[in-house]
Amino acid sequence: METKELRIFVYEYKSVDELPAEDQKLVKIAREAAKNAYAPYSTFYVGAALLLENDEIFSGNNQENAAYPAGLCAERVTLFYANATYPDVAVKTLAVTAINGANIVDGPVKPCGSCRQALAEAEFRFGKPIRIILDGKKKIHVLAGVEDLLPFAFKPESLD
Ligand code: THU
Repeated sequence: METKELRIFVYEYKSVDELPAEDQKLVKIAREAAKNAYAPYSTFYVGAALLLENDEIFSGNNQENAAYPAGLCAERVTLFYANATYPDVAVKTLAVTAINGANIVDGPVKPCGSCRQALAEAEFRFGKPIRIILDGKKKIHVLAGVEDLLPFAFKPESLD
């Protein structure tokens, strides 16, 4: 038996103002998008914004449904919107935030497992890492790629 160590790097910021300008812009767009979420059941308003390689920015939010599983998370709404519009353009960075009640959560927000898997697919699809920004009022985490968010992901080669 052998023990193997996996290392994950997390870059922690205390506020949005500490982030590089391009990341600040994405977080601010995600925060705006969260306000438009359709989340009457959870009242947890999630917003996401992503930057494509062609410099286009897409934003989205969670869309809930009285039949709960029919709803979709903000990350996937945003990712699929971008991929449906530009199927050949890689995603550079995705920022996620959430508002609980009237306030941005202390953070960093934690994407659900299904969104992590969908983001992993976008990395395999375009062969480029996607930087992830997990927003929060007190802490913001930046990850260099989805590998740091979802180690041991199910990958295309897992089908072999
Ligand atoms: N939600 C997201 O939009 N993203 C996540 O990664 C986690 C959860 C949404 C789904 C649901 O509308 C609400 O937050 C509460 O789970």
